[in-house]
Amino acid sequence: MKYFSRVPSCPNGVVKTLYCGAASSVILGIAAFVATCANSGAAEKPATLKDSYANYFHVGVAINRTIATSTDVRADNVNRTMDRVQKDIALTKEQFDQISPENDLKWALIQPREGADGYDFGPADAYVNFGLANHMYIVGHTLVWHGQTPAWVFAGTNLPPAAHLADSNSETNAPRRRGFGRGGFNMNGPRASREELLQRMHDHIATVVGRYKGKIKVWDVVNEAIDDRGTNILRNSPWLQIIGPDFIAKAFEYAHEADPDAILRYNDYSLENPAKRRKLITLIKSLQAQHVPVMAIGSQTHVSVSGPSFEQEDAALTELEQLGLPIHITELDVNSAEGGQRDTGADVANNATTTQGGLVDDANRKLADQYANLFRVFLKHHDSVKVVTLWGVNDGVSWRAQGRPLLFDANDQPKPAFYSVIAEAKKLSEPIKAAAK
Ligand code: GLA
Repeated sequence: MKYFSRVPSCPNGVVKTLYCGAASSVILGIAAFVATCANSGAAEKPATLKDSYANYFHVGVAINRTIATSTDVRADNVNRTMDRVQKDIALTKEQFDQISPENDLKWALIQPREGADGYDFGPADAYVNFGLANHMYIVGHTLVWHGQTPAWVFAGTNLPPAAHLADSNSETNAPRRRGFGRGGFNMNGPRASREELLQRMHDHIATVVGRYKGKIKVWDVVNEAIDDRGTNILRNSPWLQIIGPDFIAKAFEYAHEADPDAILRYNDYSLENPAKRRKLITLIKSLQAQHVPVMAIGSQTHVSVSGPSFEQEDAALTELEQLGLPIHITELDVNSAEGGQRDTGADVANNATTTQGGLVDDANRKLADQYANLFRVFLKHHDSVKVVTLWGVNDGVSWRAQGRPLLFDANDQPKPAFYSVIAEAKKLSEPIKAAAK
């Protein structure tokens, strides 16, 4: 099946130079170049993301249940016809060499009910089997998070300590009265004891990580534990309230016990923001000082066309590198319109309205520029950036569909942003070509 209506324009018509790869090794690059040119009579194939970046990092994608199970099942807020699902699957295989599960390994999906028989492994098994069948690098997401965690996990018979209720009026890190995640755990209601919650966490991690041991290579062990606001480092989640700050260390210890070979990540968002990043660096340094097995930093990178700039992202990665850990860009997408531009019709006036002043082409151009910026930074930091995962295959299945944040449109056609990402890798391959002449 062919997904490219256009082939990227290449100087001298040498489309194959994209396959020469942006090689970090000159020898490899020259060998590839010679082989490619010797074969120049063969049919030209457009470059793919995974091949273009093969010498630098994995380029992956979050997949939903329709892709993992090859069905048009209604899940993940996605409604795709079978025909579209097949195209999404083909595009996933063609472009990406790493996968993350959009939802099916989150606690609420994989262990909706308490106890050993409360697991629903079907969709997660399908996800892992999809990765294995297609020789992909498989990520697990996520073990300990305040979101999409059922209320039973935190429920029990212990009343919250009075101190916590008094704290609820403090300005920073105050317990929020609304529930956490779907299931709505009441922060001021009865809850599990520290021991009960640690036991549940242990059993969940041992079961889920143990089941996919050796297959899932990287785990998001703790997701989004840092508070966005105020001066406290940790978000006042039920995990923190019930267990205390060592819930993070415990989660990493349990995961390491369950699969000593898995790469264990701490994953969070808005690390482009200097204040949040400082909190992350403090947290990870303190975990490192306690010999907690945190092995990689996951930076979600849900960003927009208006930021971060090249300089801001460069500064973010430079600071994160102080930790001496690999950096994984775990949930990349770029919101391309504040109000959500939707209309791709030819009527310019109509487009101007629906884009809140910006034309569709303008939105596409801005998106392409921002993706180019970001990949230029990732390439600059390729010694530490090991994985770049797009959060969704195409705009049609994105959680931010209104902002059209991905490289492919809802019909799986490449957008200008796709070509700009390919072009960034190609720029690095040009010195290698020149050396081969
Ligand atoms: C966070 C989570 C992801 C996903 C997105 C929104 O970033 O880590 O799993 O839920 O929110 O889709």
